[in-house]
Amino acid sequence: MEVKILYATETGNARDVAERLGRECSRNNNDATTTTTTTAAAIVSVLSVDAYDPRLLPREEEKNLLLFVCSTMGQGDPPKSFEKFWKFLLKKNLPLGTSLPNLRFAVFGLGDSSYEKYNFVAKKLHRRLEQLGGKSVVELGLGDDQHFSGYDGGLDAWLEKLYVKVFGSEFYREKIVGFRNKLDACPIEVSVVRDGGSMDDRVNNSNAPVETRRGVMRAARSMATEEVSSCDDTNNGSYWRTLKVIKNECCTSESAVRQVHHIELDNRCTDVHDFSPGDVLEVLPCLSNEDAVGREVLDLLSNSIVVKDDSDDEYRAIADAENLVVSVSSSGLSHQSNSPYVCLAKNLVAYFLDCFSASPRSYFFEVCAYFANDPLEKEKLQHFASPEGRADCYQYCQRERRSVKEFFDEFTSVKLPLEWLLHVAPKLKPRQFSISSSPSQHRNNDKTHVDLISVTVAVAKWTTPLKRLRSGLCSTWMAEKLKAGDDVYARVVKSGGLPYSDTGAMILIGPGTGAAPFRSFILERCSRRNFDDKILMFFGCRRKAEDNLYETDWEHVEKWSEGNIKVVTAFSREQEKKVYVQDKIRGDHAKEVWDLISRHEAKIFVAGSSEDMPARVREAIRDVCAKEGGMDKESATRYIAELEVKRRYFVEAW
Ligand SMILES: Cc1cc2nc3c(=O)[nH]c(=O)nc-3n(C[C@H](O)[C@H](O)[C@H](O)COP(=O)(O)OP(=O)(O)OC[C@H]3O[C@@H](n4cnc5c(N)ncnc54)[C@H](O)[C@@H]3O)c2cc1C
Ligand SMILES: Cc1cc2nc3c(=O)[nH]c(=O)nc-3n(C[C@H](O)[C@H](O)[C@H](O)COP(=O)(O)O)c2cc1C
Repeated sequence: MEVKILYATETGNARDVAERLGRECSRNNNDATTTTTTTAAAIVSVLSVDAYDPRLLPREEEKNLLLFVCSTMGQGDPPKSFEKFWKFLLKKNLPLGTSLPNLRFAVFGLGDSSYEKYNFVAKKLHRRLEQLGGKSVVELGLGDDQHFSGYDGGLDAWLEKLYVKVFGSEFYREKIVGFRNKLDACPIEVSVVRDGGSMDDRVNNSNAPVETRRGVMRAARSMATEEVSSCDDTNNGSYWRTLKVIKNECCTSESAVRQVHHIELDNRCTDVHDFSPGDVLEVLPCLSNEDAVGREVLDLLSNSIVVKDDSDDEYRAIADAENLVVSVSSSGLSHQSNSPYVCLAKNLVAYFLDCFSASPRSYFFEVCAYFANDPLEKEKLQHFASPEGRADCYQYCQRERRSVKEFFDEFTSVKLPLEWLLHVAPKLKPRQFSISSSPSQHRNNDKTHVDLISVTVAVAKWTTPLKRLRSGLCSTWMAEKLKAGDDVYARVVKSGGLPYSDTGAMILIGPGTGAAPFRSFILERCSRRNFDDKILMFFGCRRKAEDNLYETDWEHVEKWSEGNIKVVTAFSREQEKKVYVQDKIRGDHAKEVWDLISRHEAKIFVAGSSEDMPARVREAIRDVCAKEGGMDKESATRYIAELEVKRRYFVEAW
């Protein structure tokens, strides 16, 4: 039997689930020592869904099994990697009931029930595969961030049903329940090349890539069992590059609850010759304080991590963490075996892993339980790793946003082999920021290159249920640490969510940092001197004197465009009753909005916080269509859905 596990992820959770499925399904083989195996019992592969050719679906054999794990993002949208696959499934020429005659499948979705379109993608996928004639081996499984154990809450029960149905109850008893407190083989191999002392010949003579940050990143990606497609090295010709900071300005007052910074970057020496308003800059965060964290990396390596020498088979503490050079290779679930990569262990921890901010997932605790030396710590970790302990683990870890380093500070008896750290600790992930500058405005004299890119960064800070103050890794580093001359490792990518056009009327709704892409839209139109088509922008913030981002820009463009560009502001806290962008749309500006939609065929763009805003804005537009367009609520809802289909309504929320 062949088991193909296809995942679609945006932030990595679906991949974690897929990898767990991969590990556990592989135990169906007699010799479950590797996670990719080709013994008679089962061939198990774990792939990002965009690495699977959907045209193969109709030809899948009945003896095989396809397991899908996919999350829902935005407002019920699929992760980017899912788009091609979904497009294929929606093809009109696929006959219902008979297109996928032999397909046996199961779907597990990851979502959050506080969103209106809860687990929308998994539900749609499951329904569509059945419609096309596929046979679901177990009912749809749903994981919910709101569950007290997180998505694991729904996963354990679903996996039990799946394993019993597919592999039988004996497999479930022996290989899943009976396997607790044991360990699968680690797909990463580490060998010590140098631990202190002078440079070893093997380092000098090896074909190792030069150990630049780019080199370490390349190794990072090749070691991951499957590449997260958003981390690919290239993206429409845009490579990861080092951009120098030109300036970093705080655009909010000291009293503002959330600080926002306008950061300008020098793009002169990159290959990004051009981009479109609406595109995003992907940034790889740095550890906030390189010196302090440098020490912390060494501390973590010296106190909690062990390595094995070629000479013997014993794990031992790292003697010289500063100079430890290792050779790393991966035989993971991906099909390629990567050639070994030689580098300093401390750089791997600093640039490949996120040990100081992100929270590890449950498999980390399972592995650490195995390597705990103190019986009490072992017991606690075994509890965390068991289905009964999932909720406690989730509270301890994710809700409290405990980092790997904080974990090791508390569980001091855990001595984790370096290869396992590389496998189970969270990886450092790039973050996206909407570009807030206009490309045309910053083109060089020959018009061949865009010289400057700006982004608008809001610092993420919050308190956990235990009142611990936490802050977002990338936004804190960018806003609070970056100064002129510093380097940012970044690349431009298409956002996909906000397609800009040089002509046509637009309604732009961007409260908070949602204003960033629309500043780019508006300045681009100004730079091209296109003032013929009307733009109505809604911006929202708390108070005029606190967080009224880009106030002077809006004033200028209103003047230049002689009223064809208009910016409406909603200051939520200036009066007793809160006023948001949706209130402005529904209130004084309803007629104008309807006129733009109905007579000027305006496109509507919404950007900003994903929490509540996009749904409230949609309701407001629906109410405007109903009132001003003389429709009932149902017709108005359909009218907006049609605008979406006609590509006149776009949302990008984060
Ligand atoms: C297409 C796109 C465009 C974007 N554009 C912008 C932009 O223009 N400007 C901008 O500032 N950001 C933008 N973002 C968001 C940005 O990518 C980062 O997610 C954001 O800066 C936080 O990253 P971080 O590393 O600081 O936080 P992280 O270290 O990644 O932590 C963020 C995580 O911490 C948790 N968290 C954060 N706040 C809270 C809270 N209050 N309570 C509980 N938990 C919390 C959440 O789990 C959250 O996922 C955009 C995102 C996307 C996808
Ligand atoms: C910006 C954003 C938007 C989201 N939108 C939805 C949604 O519309 N419906 C839903 O069920 N879950 C939504 N979620 C929750 C995610 O699906 C959930 O966190 C999931 O575990 C993410 O999995 P991934 O890491 O594999 O992408 C959203 C999460 C974020 C951060």
